Amino acid sequence: MRVPVLFRVLSLVHSINQGMAIRTMYRYAYFEPGGPEKLEIRSQELPTTVKDKHVLIKVFSTAVNRADTLQRKGFYPPPPGESEILGLEAAGVVDKLGPNCSDRWKKGDRVMALLAGGGYAEYATVHEDLLLNVPSNLNLTEAGGIPEVWLTAYQLLFFVGNVQPGDIVLIHAGASGVGTAAIQLTRHAGATPLITAGSSAKIQTALDLGASKGFNYKDGDFSKAVLEATNGRGVDVILDCVGASFYEQNIDSIATDGRWVLYGLMGGGSINADIFSKLLRKRVSLLATLLRSRSREYKKKLINSFTEQILPLFERGELKLTIDRILPFDKVAEAHKLMESNTNTGKIILKVHEEIQSNLTQHEEL
Ligand SMILES: NC(=O)c1ccc[n+]([C@@H]2O[C@H](COP(=O)([O-])OP(=O)(O)OC[C@H]3O[C@@H](n4cnc5c(N)ncnc54)[C@H](OP(=O)(O)O)[C@@H]3O)[C@@H](O)[C@H]2O)c1
Repeated sequence: MRVPVLFRVLSLVHSINQGMAIRTMYRYAYFEPGGPEKLEIRSQELPTTVKDKHVLIKVFSTAVNRADTLQRKGFYPPPPGESEILGLEAAGVVDKLGPNCSDRWKKGDRVMALLAGGGYAEYATVHEDLLLNVPSNLNLTEAGGIPEVWLTAYQLLFFVGNVQPGDIVLIHAGASGVGTAAIQLTRHAGATPLITAGSSAKIQTALDLGASKGFNYKDGDFSKAVLEATNGRGVDVILDCVGASFYEQNIDSIATDGRWVLYGLMGGGSINADIFSKLLRKRVSLLATLLRSRSREYKKKLINSFTEQILPLFERGELKLTIDRILPFDKVAEAHKLMESNTNTGKIILKVHEEIQSNLTQHEEL
């Protein structure tokens, strides 16, 4: 009889360790500036208090973004006052509400968060205005890949590029996280997406998502094909995350009075050319934008508009998140390596906690 008693005591200790006890430590991705190998999982103390109007979420998933790879290299520090931990997006459940929160969120709610940092962790803190509901048909692993790239694509097209029905939009890196979202949002707006990408497989993915035509920029000057596809008129809007290496082809591809939305510099930031006279001749608006450094008020407006206009389309299955792969949290270095090899199509998601039934039903029980 002694063995079963001992066994019961050990099981009790085990269940306390597994979560019945109050957690005091949480895991996060630590790095020092350098290559992907500089990323490792460490533990630190969970904050005991949550800031005014902030919410602590238990993170089930986060996703890798290009900005994370730049920050890891030491080139893109977080805005002042934001977490030093990497990670611009997360999905999970509300764990704790700070003082003076509205009654919009409650413990157990399934949420997605737009973060300026802190997503690569088992727990993250975020202002209540920067949370979104998870569409009921998505699980908490997939949902971690939505906030950063979908809100970016929505911002580029509608807050910055002012895309209208009938417009033609040229989307570079058409199979990237942002590109796969932008193609679908362009179609939804009654505009026509054209894309560039670096392989026929990526072009096919973009066509499957609704792109009208795709051009492999590695095959040579894409502007000729763009002009051919637009009967010589050019495109109304360019979503440009490439910069220097595409600048000349962009000028040739854009229509008179076009809007050129610059939001990344994967092809470099320096050019030595007479770009202004070309922009002037075509009366092009050059619009540069970043999301991370925007004010909370701006992000709140963006999130509210996205929640009203776009989340219902996810609920109805009309929009789809393109996932390259889902990796366990401790494979964070591998995830960065993969993104930097330019081989991913869509999002690389890091699964931080396993979604189990009790997490899904918690809200209903409250
Ligand atoms: N401004 C903002 O607020 C904001 C927010 C989010 C993201 N971004 C930017 O959006 C871009 C996409 O981010 P993501 O996370 O969606 O990226 P991602 O999924 O990693 O995709 C990036 C893809 O871009 C292509 N690419 C890389 N270098 C290139 C180059 N020199 N010339 C042409 N194509 C190149 C590669 O595909 P191919 O095989 O087709 O070459 C690569 O797979 C990044 O530049 C990122 O910094 C900006």
